[in-house]
Amino acid sequence: MSLIRLSSVSHTFSTATGPLPVLDSLDLSINEGEFTAVVGPSGCGKSTLTRLIAGLLIPDEGEVWLHGERVVSPRSTVGMAFQNPVLLEWRSILKNVMLPLEIVSSGMPAKEQEQRARYLLSLVGLEGFEDKRPSELSGGMRQRASLCRSLVHKPDVVILDEPFGALDAFTREDLWQTMHSLREQEPFTALLITHDLRESVFLADQVIVLSGRPAHAQHVLDVDIPGKRTLEDLYTQKATEMLAELRQQIQIAQGKTAVTP
Ligand SMILES: Nc1ncnc2c1ncn2[C@@H]1O[C@H](COP(=O)(O)OP(=O)(O)O)[C@@H](O)[C@H]1O
Ligand SMILES: [Mg+2]
Repeated sequence: MSLIRLSSVSHTFSTATGPLPVLDSLDLSINEGEFTAVVGPSGCGKSTLTRLIAGLLIPDEGEVWLHGERVVSPRSTVGMAFQNPVLLEWRSILKNVMLPLEIVSSGMPAKEQEQRARYLLSLVGLEGFEDKRPSELSGGMRQRASLCRSLVHKPDVVILDEPFGALDAFTREDLWQTMHSLREQEPFTALLITHDLRESVFLADQVIVLSGRPAHAQHVLDVDIPGKRTLEDLYTQKATEMLAELRQQIQIAQGKTAVTP
């Protein structure tokens, strides 16, 4: 059974200039433990999709299911991380990571909560930075802390909305590798929104290409790279073909004539 399922989801925003249809009969399914990436033209409805899954927005039509339950209100079992890590400057890194545990009643004893936060910080290479303030860390380190915060309450699914978008290329690649090692130690289900096709192929088990607005699932690519992935895997013929396929699909989504790769 899929952990997340969207069936025929349509949604229209009302704006000052009239109705704006954003999603149109979107179907999508994510299995437990799977890493799904979503790519699509800018403004096509990717962030809207994340809000629907988190229950922050209820669709006009269609259904969103999480763990066999219809999503009709905000879900605390969803962890989220964004391009801007939004850490609270008046709290230490450790206390920032522990924040969801204060909001969601986890039933975890206080000592265990702190141990879990420290453990996650050590997994992402932030051991020794627990007592620092966010402004004392680099952008990449802040994003690492934000990832820990999105995982600390053991959510059913982690939604990552362009979390690496603002980072330089080398920091981004470091974080991709951190994501893989995090998943090894601490398996989770993830939905990653990205505009970086290499990132989607490196991190995901399946890549969903959304069409232009109003968006539906235009194309699904299964990323069949077995075993532990390294950056070199992005330069194999297989990966090159997958990237060409995605690039072609994005062009179609943007309404451009697809060029032969
Ligand atoms: N609450 C809202 N009210 C009106 N329009 C919105 C709202 N949220 C998003 N939109 C519009 O819906 C479209 C899709 O937005 P979004 O899901 O953020 O796109 P993406 O994340 O793919 O760039 C955009 O044109 C955006 O301006
Ligand atoms: Mg967005």
